[in-house]
Amino acid sequence: MKELEVAERAAVEAGKIAMKYFRGDFEVKLKGRNDLVTNADVECERHIKKIISSEYPLHSFLGEEEGSQGTSKDVWVIDPIDGTTNFVHGVEQFCHSIALVRDNELVCGAVYNPVMNLLYTAYRGKGAFLNGRRIKVSRAESLGECLIITGFPYDAVGAEESDVHAKTLAAIASLRGSIHDVRRFGSAALDLCRVAHGICDAYFEYRIKPWDIAAGMLIVKEAGGKVTDINGNEASFMSPHFVASNGLVHERLLSHLEASK
Ligand code: IPD
Ligand code: CA
Repeated sequence: MKELEVAERAAVEAGKIAMKYFRGDFEVKLKGRNDLVTNADVECERHIKKIISSEYPLHSFLGEEEGSQGTSKDVWVIDPIDGTTNFVHGVEQFCHSIALVRDNELVCGAVYNPVMNLLYTAYRGKGAFLNGRRIKVSRAESLGECLIITGFPYDAVGAEESDVHAKTLAAIASLRGSIHDVRRFGSAALDLCRVAHGICDAYFEYRIKPWDIAAGMLIVKEAGGKVTDINGNEASFMSPHFVASNGLVHERLLSHLEASK
């Protein structure tokens, strides 16, 4: 499991960079109307890639800030800071998310929140862990017992933005009376780890990106959870409309979500 050790080390090292800037001075730029990026995001992505390349010089990358690099069948999918808006505002809910995909299959993933020192990890077939201790999804059997997480994309524009927001708000309205509550924490990778850890029961988001979900998706599956696209079909880390749950409430949650292509 050397790949996972490298992912963990890169995530923890990125955490040191983020903590150097957190609640301090950094530059913020806009990628879109409310899609933020900081110099810390870029520095983290470069440092993560440097650590991985020193072990696996031929592997490829897909990163949020610098895009695709290389043609290897081994691709490291990186969100250098997931929850950038939280990071910018000094809110603790952000993380570094790193996954290895081989021939389009997830091999391992690490998600690290440096403020709370939470390191979530999984290797395919070997279970999911938080700081080295095994984690499992919740046992909630009815939606009535559930705390469900969602999110809104920052980079959708125009008609697509309206469509995604309308579908998300309609789902919240439809669920609101039938569950304990809805949360929007602002970091999809950490949201998936909360489902894996069993402290929340499910997560859904329309129009999510591969780097937001790749590591967290494997962590949920290895914790005994279920992931599908919003139509209930098998999900990949490239699925844009994504649902994860403890498995037990999955079908009932899907019935509140509007299908999407
Ligand atoms: C965002 C977060 C957020 C989700 C957005 C993502 P970023 O990632 O994961 O929770 O709702 O869709 O874009 O921009 O903070 O890396
Ligand atoms: Ca992200």
